[in-house]
This record gives sequence, C-alpha cells and structure tokens, in this order.
Amino acid sequence: MQTRASISGQTAITVILAHPVAHVRAPQAMNAHYDALGYDGVLVPLQVLPEDLATVVAGLRRLRNLRGIVVTVPHKEAIASLCDELTADARQVGAVNVIRREEDGRLTGGQFDGEGFVAGLRGAGHEVTGRAVFMAGAGGAAAGLAFALARHGARRLTIHNRTAAKAEELAARVRAAYPACDTRAGGADPSGHDIVANATSLGMHEGDALPLEVARLAPPMLAAEVIMAPEVTPFLAEAAKRGCATHGGKPMLTAQIALLARFMGAIAVPCDR
Ligand SMILES: NC(=O)c1ccc[n+]([C@@H]2O[C@H](COP(=O)([O-])OP(=O)(O)OC[C@H]3O[C@@H](n4cnc5c(N)ncnc54)[C@H](OP(=O)(O)O)[C@@H]3O)[C@@H](O)[C@H]2O)c1
Repeated sequence: MQTRASISGQTAITVILAHPVAHVRAPQAMNAHYDALGYDGVLVPLQVLPEDLATVVAGLRRLRNLRGIVVTVPHKEAIASLCDELTADARQVGAVNVIRREEDGRLTGGQFDGEGFVAGLRGAGHEVTGRAVFMAGAGGAAAGLAFALARHGARRLTIHNRTAAKAEELAARVRAAYPACDTRAGGADPSGHDIVANATSLGMHEGDALPLEVARLAPPMLAAEVIMAPEVTPFLAEAAKRGCATHGGKPMLTAQIALLARFMGAIAVPCDR
C-alpha cells in the first residue's frame, strides 16, 4: 500500500488539468487504482485557466518523469490541437481526455469517455449491441458516447440537444463513420428506445431543467446518466418513479480509470485505442 510518503524520485507523475478543479473525482479514483495495481505512480490535480493551457502543456512536455495527462472540462477540445498525435477515437470525437507522454516528449492524445460509458453499462449487465439508444446532449461527453455506442453495435441512435444544429452535426458525423447504426437527430420524446441516456450537464445543479420528456419514460427502458454527483439526478429519480431501471454516472468514471491508466502506461501493455 502506497502513501503520499512513499512518493519518491522513482514515482511516475501523472496530472489532471481542469478548471475549476475542486470537484474532480479522478485523483482519488486513479491513485486508488495505482495502489491496486501496485504501480508506483501518482495523479495530481492541476488548475489551469483556458488562456494558460498552451503554456502549461509546453512545460509539461519538458518534464522527463511525467507519464501522462488526464484532461477534463474545459480543456478536452482545445488540447487536441496541442498533441503531436491523436488516436483514431480522439480524432473521430474531436476531443482528448488523456495524453501519454512518450519517451521523447511527444504527446499522444486519446479519448475514452464513450468507451468508459459502454464498459460501465456492460459491467452492470446492460448490453448496447443491437439496442435503440436515445441520448440527450451533443457536447464533448455526448460526442464520445455517440461514437462509442455506434462502434459497439447500437442498432439505432437518436440524439436530442437544446442546440438542435449540434445534434444534427453530430448525428451526421456518427452516421458517416458507422453507417450500420441508424443515427438521427430528434426531439425530446424518448419513446421507442431501449436505453435513454443523459449526456448533458443538466442535473448537476439544483433547479436545472430535465434533459428530455421524462413523462415518456416507461419500462423496460433503462435510464443511464453521465453525471456523477448527485448520485441520483432528477432524471434518474423521474425514471425510477416510472418503474425504469437506472444506471448512474459513477461506473463510467470507474471503467475509464482503468482505461486511462493503461493508456498512460501503468500496466505493461499500453492501450492504443
Ligand atoms: N461520468 C463520467 O465519467 C463523465 C465523463 C465526462 C463527462 N461527464 C459529465 O458529462 C456532462 C457533460 O459534459 P460535457 O463535457 O459534454 O459538457 P459540454 O461539452 O459543455 O456539453 C454540455 C451539454 O449539456 C447541454 N446543456 C447545458 N446546459 C443546458 C441547458 N440549460 N439546457 C439544455 N441543455 C443544456 C448542452 O447543450 P447545448 O449544446 O445546447 O449547449 C450540451 O449538450 C458533465 O456533467 C460532466 O461532468 C461525466
């Protein structure tokens, strides 16, 4: 078992860049994962303003004992253009949530939001292959989910978003990449879908509007969240009230932690998705 006192000159340093930073959950989760792996590494939270991102990344590139960078709001899109290479998934989504620092200082950006969501669902016994999925949201997290759902064989994907043009644009990109998945933009009614997912930020704050027409939720639909806190969002509460099974946002983070650690090299075989 490592403690902070066991951090040494041998320890592999990883960081998470965020603004604000106080709410991030990845440090506790990643450090616990490193402990579980017996990996001599640490993940440290760094608060970085958007206007400082390029300067900070240029500095991080020069740190010889830096293994990787986890990236979260609001930097996921901006940081993609600061990487030397992107994985196919990061290119597709247009956003990066983890970077591996190669031996020579080159930075390879990856994207695991969607993979984490699908892995989290599967871990809880919910398959996406062959399912019709309704997703509210067309921001960064939603884009990751949309490509991953289509990649993992969702039969149909309906994307609903406040800014309809963004839903149309995302649907067109997913359709082009995965024509076998019938992907379209749509209204707020989730009727006729097996899995109904909230991938907006609505539900994080008291008084937020609901992300979709919850009156149309009914069994056997599964209601799934990306939001981790509160654990039961108003969307999940409404779904449960109507008898639907629910799946919170935490498994998405838990599943991602292992994927991010692997990408940054915390286990012998790096993951190059
Ligand atoms: N569990 C996990 O591991 C995990 C991982 C990543 C992200 N997340 C969570 O995912 C959520 C979304 O993050 P993101 O990076 O995708 O954010 P983002 O890029 O800013 O996108 C926000 C989305 O929410 C919608 N939205 C925001 N305010 C709204 C309002 N008042 N009414 C209607 N729609 C509204 C936006 O619609 P418009 O396009 O119309 O603005 C957009 O679709 C956050 O809560 C984040 O914490 C969780």
